[in-house]
Amino acid sequence: MTYSTLLTQLENGILTITINRPDKLNALNAAVFTDISNAVDEVNNNPAIKSAIITGSGAKAFVAGADITEFAGLTKESAMALAKRGQDIFFKIEHSKKPIIAAVNGFALGGGCELAMACHFRIASDNAKFGQPEVNLGLIPGYGGTQRLTQLIGKGRALELLISASIIDAAAALRYGLVNYVVPPEELLDKAKSLLQVINSKAPIAVAKCIETTNAVFDENKNGFEEEIKAFGECFDTVDMKEGTSAFLQKRKPIFVAK
Ligand code: COA
Repeated sequence: MTYSTLLTQLENGILTITINRPDKLNALNAAVFTDISNAVDEVNNNPAIKSAIITGSGAKAFVAGADITEFAGLTKESAMALAKRGQDIFFKIEHSKKPIIAAVNGFALGGGCELAMACHFRIASDNAKFGQPEVNLGLIPGYGGTQRLTQLIGKGRALELLISASIIDAAAALRYGLVNYVVPPEELLDKAKSLLQVINSKAPIAVAKCIETTNAVFDENKNGFEEEIKAFGECFDTVDMKEGTSAFLQKRKPIFVAK
């Protein structure tokens, strides 16, 4: 598929999705939201795609936030609708059955930090910067930032970032557990791809169930332990579980078919 605000490239089962508004530091406007939503659908509907990377175009920014020019003229009601739309799309990323990781190549501020946090995990280049600077604008995060930042780095650190609008560098993000790896900018995409190559070699239904049950930890309507029991049992109904266990016993590599 082609998108007006994204570049996409499919290689070895990995779709690299690059948000492509470098002159606006890849700020999230309505068109980018629609494209991201459609790209996540493409990831999940195209059997040739096993996983995806979200990154930003240019050397400076992953995403510098929601597009502030679109805030002009919003009312309480339309602002709530915007937040709901952003949350729904980021929820779709978080609940994607196929892994989607963020390769953070510069500023990840406001909605950019929220987008990165909706991904299954994050890798950063050493020039990356993270923050939720909305209080500078008389705002708070609206695309899940208060919730996911707290989930990922804990309440004290999250609140400090949220209420001071402090920006942290990649080393601090690594220390806080906001990102899993920090690498030089020129190695960022290769690192993301090599991690996904490993994941893509695993049983896809089992990978999807790991995502689903891990998300259940943060879903108050679900008992994560019960979800795990159910998902564990369902794995026994899959061709891939029979293949994986047989291959182990036969001392060979499994061939998974996502069934
Ligand atoms: N929304 C809309 N446009 C944005 C933007 C955003 N969130 N972030 C950057 N841009 C635009 C700038 O307006 C500028 O456009 P222009 O060249 O037409 O004037 C362009 O992107 C480059 O940004 P600029 O501010 O000139 O770059 P910088 O290197 O001086 O500063 C930042 C970089 C990230 C520190 C700064 O752009 C910034 O603070 N952005 C807003 C961050 C923010 O508050 N995000 C949360 C939004 S809720």
